[in-house]
Amino acid sequence: MSARPQLFQGIDDVRAYVRACRAAGESVGLVPTMGALHEGHLSLVRASRAATTRTVATIFVNPTQFGPDEDLDSYPRTLEADLDALAALGVDAVFHPEPAVMYPDGDPFIQVTPSVIDQNLCGLARPGHFQGVCTVVAKLFNIIPADKAFFGRKDAQQAAILKRMAKDLDFPIEINICPIVREEDGLAMSSRNKYLDGEERAQAIALSQALAIGRQAIADGERDSATLVKVMKESLSKFELVHPEYVSIVDFNTFVDTEAIGPSCLAAIAAQVGPARLIDNMLIDGDTGECEM
Ligand code: PAJ
Repeated sequence: MSARPQLFQGIDDVRAYVRACRAAGESVGLVPTMGALHEGHLSLVRASRAATTRTVATIFVNPTQFGPDEDLDSYPRTLEADLDALAALGVDAVFHPEPAVMYPDGDPFIQVTPSVIDQNLCGLARPGHFQGVCTVVAKLFNIIPADKAFFGRKDAQQAAILKRMAKDLDFPIEINICPIVREEDGLAMSSRNKYLDGEERAQAIALSQALAIGRQAIADGERDSATLVKVMKESLSKFELVHPEYVSIVDFNTFVDTEAIGPSCLAAIAAQVGPARLIDNMLIDGDTGECEM
């Protein structure tokens, strides 16, 4: 069995550890997570291990990014299994704070609020969500002064917002956005897939299937966003347990809807499937028509 990563629960301790690593000439990679780790998270750890000499993962189910009717209480918490998985990949340290360590006075008085880039898609559907994400990740960047941070394109709007946050607020950290890891049938891996029962799980492939249908239409020469959205919605409508929330084509940098496929676009879908809100997306290169699921 591989050695367990060093577990830190206090801010000063993990910061001192990271500072000492950097003073010793190590490069440090940060992989923020909410735990219940799966291969998607572990792909970020692998990317960090390949690009840096020390990897620090964080496991913190951040209350401020959950809406009042969302799944904060039922969110899966699997610390022991997570530590084993991180140990197997050679992660050096894990920061796992209690909420009172991160928010000693309750909701922070000062928060980080994204502008235009969260006025669409998940930002519209989950008011305050990206403010919670930005605030906690800004805190993590300050607590763990890493060289590089790793996020998944699975949560494309989150990744784009955090990349922009680092740029606009001058965090000295390189943001890396890593590919989506999928189950064999195409379903994007997610901690929330655990909420699905057998039939819901079977129908959850609707999202990646709709994206694949969009990809085929693009390969056939379609460039009009409204037409592509219609084709994808038609595909989703064949699944009775899948209730779409949005199907959109946006610019990957601004998250504003596009009329036609441009140089760096994203087709994005959110849908409720039973108790789980699922999201998926595909990158589109408008110049070549190539898509990356
Ligand atoms: P969480 O949902 O645990 O995800 C942690 C990281 O794993 C995110 O960067 C997410 O995009 C990535 N990830 C999840 N599923 C993936 C998949 N199938 N393929 C590739 N990457 C995947 O996202 C959060 O936590 C939180 O909002 C956080 C950034 C930690 C702030 O609280």
